[in-house]
Amino acid sequence: MSVLDDSVAAIRDLQPHKVVVFTGAGVSADSGVPTFRGPQGLWRSYRSEDLATPEAFARDPKLVWQWYEWRRGLIREAQPNAAHRSIAQLATAVVITQNVDNLHARGGSRDIVELHGNIFRVRCTREGTITVADEPFASLPPHCACGALLRPDIVWFGEMLPEEAVERASAAIIGADILLIIGTSGVVYPAAGLVALHRGLSIEINPEASALASACTYAIPSRAAEATPQIINAILEGQR
Ligand code: APR
Repeated sequence: MSVLDDSVAAIRDLQPHKVVVFTGAGVSADSGVPTFRGPQGLWRSYRSEDLATPEAFARDPKLVWQWYEWRRGLIREAQPNAAHRSIAQLATAVVITQNVDNLHARGGSRDIVELHGNIFRVRCTREGTITVADEPFASLPPHCACGALLRPDIVWFGEMLPEEAVERASAAIIGADILLIIGTSGVVYPAAGLVALHRGLSIEINPEASALASACTYAIPSRAAEATPQIINAILEGQR
């Protein structure tokens, strides 16, 4: 039997109802959105220290915004893939994501915890107000009506995760019957550390075993768009 077959058998035995899905950039790879690490990853072409830090933004807000505006354009054209759509079939699942691409919401999920923010929201650097900004900006860097610079509503390296998001994610993972870990390298903390709170059945879906794989019950060596629908169908069968 394959690891996928073993995982499906374990799900059929357990018939989990409280499902938590923890995702990283790999869940959106099949939508054409580049991951950060690995051979085609973004960090191959850019240095995270030059773009995704408060210091980089203070040094050159226009450069940082040029990078984010490029990513916003690319993500705007992307479509949710079979992994996002199958996860959304779990009406009561909590989706905890490190991604900022909004593809879980566009794929139909409702209970989403965004640990690292959202690339289509901006925050005033003076007043802290957060607003949705879906459309391309007329000029970069964008400014708030109050005159201050706007920044992406994204958690940069060295910044704290939103407290409310960490609390929601922790409670969900502790109370889960099953934890699906999809498309993350598991190397960025504190997000990756939340996974250790889970004590039940855990299944990773990733073509390359992540840093979290050894702690999972099963690690399925597969792309998210291939294996996720099969895993979700096994969970849905047990919930009928
Ligand atoms: N299906 C599933 N997983 C995939 C696929 C795919 N089609 N393609 C790649 N992967 C896996 C890779 O093997 C890798 O383990 O997705 C993972 C992507 O890892 P990273 O690029 O490190 O992305 P992520 O884990 O989400 O990074 C965490 O780091 O740069 C910061 O804030 C950024 O949220 C991000 C955080």
